[in-house]
Parts: sequence; C-alpha cells; structure tokens
Amino acid sequence: MPANETIPESTAWAVIDPKAYADGVSARDAFAWLRANLPLGKAELEGNFPFWVVTKHADILEISRQNDLFHSGDRSTTFTTPEGDETVRRMTGGSPHLVRTLVQMDAPDHPKYRLLTQSWFLPQNIRPLEERIRKIAREHVDRMAAMGGECDFARDIALTYPLRVIMEVLGVPPEDEPRMLRLTQELFGAADPELNRSGAAAGDNPDAMADLQAIIADFFMYFKKITDDRKAAPRGDLASVIANGQIDGAPISDFEAMSYYVIVATAGHDTTSSSTAGAIWGLCEAPEQFAKLKADPSLIPGLVDESIRWVTPVKHFMRSATADYEMRGRTIRAGDWLWLAYPSGNRDEEVFDDPDAFRIERNPNRHLAFGYGAHLCLGQHLAKMEMRILWEELVPRLQSLELAGEPKLAVASFVGGPKRLPIRYRLS
Ligand code: HEM
Repeated sequence: MPANETIPESTAWAVIDPKAYADGVSARDAFAWLRANLPLGKAELEGNFPFWVVTKHADILEISRQNDLFHSGDRSTTFTTPEGDETVRRMTGGSPHLVRTLVQMDAPDHPKYRLLTQSWFLPQNIRPLEERIRKIAREHVDRMAAMGGECDFARDIALTYPLRVIMEVLGVPPEDEPRMLRLTQELFGAADPELNRSGAAAGDNPDAMADLQAIIADFFMYFKKITDDRKAAPRGDLASVIANGQIDGAPISDFEAMSYYVIVATAGHDTTSSSTAGAIWGLCEAPEQFAKLKADPSLIPGLVDESIRWVTPVKHFMRSATADYEMRGRTIRAGDWLWLAYPSGNRDEEVFDDPDAFRIERNPNRHLAFGYGAHLCLGQHLAKMEMRILWEELVPRLQSLELAGEPKLAVASFVGGPKRLPIRYRLS
C-alpha cells in the first residue's frame, strides 16, 4: 500500500482511544487533521485489525446509503481488537456479534425486522405520547427548581429524563429503572472506570468480555419477563409490538425479541441524555445564544438539532465492504473494515460554517448524528420530540444559566457525551 494512505500512528490511536474523546480535544484535533490531509486513510496499528477511517460528511453519506456494498452484519459493528473478536466468536459459535439487533442485520432480514416497529416510531404515531412525555419533563423541571439553583445537569436531569421516557415507551415500570440505567451505563461505559462493571480503566480489564456477556444476560433475563407478559396480555406499548411480532409468518424468536428491547432500551437513552446535557453546556458556553432563545422560543427545534450535532453522541459505527470500491482515489477492498467517524462528519468545514461553534440558528443543519441509509436512526423523531418538550417546559422558566464547575466527558469511543455538568441557574 502506498505510504500516503496510512494514517500517522498517533492520529490513528486518537481515533480509537476512548480517552481521546474524554479530553474534548484529542479526537477532535485528529479528525480536523484527517479531514484536511487524509480524509480517507487507513489505520494500521500494531495488535489491531487494519481499518479505513472515513472522516468527510459526503463520504460517510456515500457509504451509509449503499447498504448492499457496505454491510453491517459481516464483522463487528463497533470497533474491537482481534482478541475481542475472537472471544465473541468463541462465545457465539462463530458470529461476530453478541446480540442480533437491527444494527447488526443486513438485507433481507433487516428490512423485515425494521418494518415490525417502523410505523410505531413515525412522528404521527408518537404524537399521542406527547402529553405523557410533557408530564415527565415538568417533573424534571420541578426537580431542578427544588435543587435551589445548582445541580449537576448531566447526572441529575439529562440522565434520568430520557430514561423515564424510553421506559414509559417500552412499558418498564419506574421501580425497575435504576436497574436499566445501571445496565445501560455498564454496556456503553465499558471503557470508563466510573461507569463499567469492574471499575477497571480502559484496556485494563481482562474480564471485559465476560462482563459484557453477563450484562447482556441480565438484560435478556429482565426482558424475558416482559415478553411473556405481553404475549399473554398485549397492550398498546412498544413491548407488545415486539413480543407479538411476526417475521415471514412465524413469531419472532425470544433471542431476537430480546435483542430488540436491548437496542431500544440502550440506543434510546444514553444518546438522548448526552445531547440533552450538550444543549445546556452549549448555552452556557454561548450566552448570546441563550439570550436569543429566551427572546424567540421558535428557535427550540434549532437548539435540539444543534446540540445533537455539537455532541454527536454516537462516535462511530463500522461497516465492511462486500466488493472493491473506489473512493477519493483509493481502493477499498472487499472485506475491508471502515470506521464511520460521525463527529468528524458533523464538524466538516465544507458543510458547516465555523463547525466548532454552537449556533442554534444553523439552517439547514444537515448533521449526520443519526446515521444515514437503511439504518438511519429509528428513534430520531422520538429523541427530537422529547428534547423539544423538555426545552418548552424549561426555557420559559429559566432566568439565568452558567457553568458552576468543570464539565466532564465520558471516556467512550462508541457512545458518549457530557457525564458531569455542574451549573448554576435561576428558575421562576
Ligand atoms: C440523540 C439521540 C440519538 C442518536 C444520536 C442516535 C444515533 C443513531 C445512529 C447513528 C444510528 C445508526 C446505526 C447504524 O448506522 O448502524 C441509530 C440507529 C438506531 N437508533 Fe438511534 N439515536 C438516538 C436516539 C434513539 C432513540 C430515542 C431510539 C429509540 C427509542 C433509537 C433507536 C435506534 C434504533 C432501533 C436504531 C437501529 C436502526 C437500524 O439499524 O435499522 N435511537 N441511532
């Protein structure tokens, strides 16, 4: 391979190292360098599989929309080491995935499974949830008021609000939420000693795979109860749609129903929490934006989109090529693995003016935080609706807002965002 295809070693490490996303600058700077100098480069790091890093907005879209040429199911959909891959294949009898959710499927299965719940998630079909969500939003704003002008917005509000919403949607009772919260954090925070099961630093836990399997087993055990219940007595919730779903005229298997709950419970929660916290962080960093929002609440949808772009909670998904493909003068070979760098696409100077700035008036805001193509986020309308409702309840009452300490980002190269956000505020 010509040398100019290879990404410099320190830059490639910054792409995969969970810590590089926690300091706020290392991953961001690595991506800025790549976009300018090597927009499609190959990472060849010792002890790792080689993989392409796709950093440009246009290229991420080009790959994401060609689902027959770039598969999700053939190799791990998130980055893993050769040892991690081998362990998973050993545990599963050859599959590179511990769960089989929509994210790990390709056609012909993917569209069939997606169709089961697709219409449930359409804007017109989630609208009836609006009042229930508004009630949860009001409870959270009241909780902020009761905290007397200071809180850790990430931990006290942004973490529990989307959790409550998604659990309501799935039909999980409030008393089981702490368990769901812990499991979700352990799953996505696997590299973060403050969140994971063992308390070990990234790369230092020899039992990481066994922990992951135990976490998934816990999820499965919990949702088996829900499946059995909804089969016996279906209700209007999403759990009933999943439990009683049919594929090719046969009932969906327990394993696949369980995988479905896991993706909704996990994907629907941490991502939205991070974006919600990011909105408040952005407004603290840019007080003139807060003033504009107070003066003109019609900017709330812009705040929602901009915070999702600015945080980009999903840091990557992987694809693998099914055939040779030419892009930017390079040849991606059949079987090659590709890292779709969403945070990089969302800071692409060719698409966004002053991309590091937080600007709620960006219009259009063509961010790709929800992915693109056949796997485009199923929950995007729900995520945006719940964030909009929270801001509709909070912003009119919020008289002042500022940081009261150092924000902290999660140590995560898959899903992450602000996990500590100390703020000071006045609420009417
Ligand atoms: C700001 C919040 C969110 C972000 C940034 C986000 C991001 C993403 C991304 C990037 C994908 C693409 C996966 C791929 O290409 O392989 C995705 C897929 C998905 N998301 Fe979201 N998501 C969010 C909220 C939600 C919510 C609230 C739910 C459910 C209630 C949800 C459920 C899903 C599901 C089921 C998929 C799989 C779709 C498929 O593979 O066909 N997400 N999401």
